[in-house]
Amino acid sequence: MTIANSIRTIGVIGAGQMGNGIAHVAALAGYDVLLNDLETDRIDGALDIIRHNMTRQVGRGMITHEAMEEALPRIKKTPKLGSFEAADIAIESVIEVEEFKRKIYADLRETLRPDALLATNTSSISITRLAATTDRPDKFIGVHFMNPVPLMKLVELIRGLATSQETYETSLTFVSSLGKTIANAEDFPAFIVNRVLIPMINEAVYTLYEGVGSVEAIDKAMRLGANHPMGPLELADFIGLDTCLSIMQVLNEGLADTKYRPCPLLVKYVEAGWLGQKTQRGFYDYRGETPMPTR
Ligand SMILES: NC(=O)c1ccc[n+]([C@@H]2O[C@H](COP(=O)([O-])OP(=O)(O)OC[C@H]3O[C@@H](n4cnc5c(N)ncnc54)[C@H](O)[C@@H]3O)[C@@H](O)[C@H]2O)c1
Repeated sequence: MTIANSIRTIGVIGAGQMGNGIAHVAALAGYDVLLNDLETDRIDGALDIIRHNMTRQVGRGMITHEAMEEALPRIKKTPKLGSFEAADIAIESVIEVEEFKRKIYADLRETLRPDALLATNTSSISITRLAATTDRPDKFIGVHFMNPVPLMKLVELIRGLATSQETYETSLTFVSSLGKTIANAEDFPAFIVNRVLIPMINEAVYTLYEGVGSVEAIDKAMRLGANHPMGPLELADFIGLDTCLSIMQVLNEGLADTKYRPCPLLVKYVEAGWLGQKTQRGFYDYRGETPMPTR
């Protein structure tokens, strides 16, 4: 079966911070979007966030008010994957837990058309291994957006062993049409950006754990000393500490080098449910007017 001639309808599974960003840029680029989540409230929340973020873009002159009003109705709340028949590409963006992703691919067997592409926004899990659990390894690809999706220019494209050239080219055209720039990455743990970025964040947590510096000192040092726009601990809170830990675990298991050992302090924060901005507490506490360091 060949690939859908052209992509018009995008299915997004997972309406979290990445899923809502993907829906946002796809709708602005003129695509119809089916937005799914396990929890219906999450879809409603995502629609509110998208409206809020687009309103900010209008305020900054990045998009017109008309573009926003045209884009918003293109995003359809889709609580059931059974409604994904219309999708020409489904982009899975649920939490970084392999068995959850596999379960979704199994559920999609029932509804996703045979000519539709299946993409994952995974930050680190093997595309080849995920593809092998689907009914379409040749039409499966890693499309790794950066956070926040509406602002970040880059998307990594990762081909699994079985990904066809046609799937790659169709994905390339689709992602380019969203105004994004592509970096090709090979299918090795965490690809390019996170292979470099997340061990740096893990090292910053070790620096805190060993008492080399406070949360504020570490972030200030990297902002002003290395010219990073955000310190590594505020960036970790922004990404989500659970996501950072999952990526370190994938690197640790996949490359079996002790330099990828997750910092016990990162594990502790995740065990506490202090996952960063999304839960209001991480290395900073976001419940007040200004973020306050939690150590
Ligand atoms: N946070 C980042 O900076 C970042 C950047 C690039 C890629 N990613 C990747 O994107 C994916 C999503 O990350 P996120 O930060 O948006 O997470 P998130 O926790 O903000 O959102 C995940 C969403 O998935 C939903 N979900 C869970 N199981 C589901 C299921 N079975 N069906 C439908 N929805 C389900 C949850 O309810 C939640 O709304 C992960 O694979 C992550 O590694 C994250």
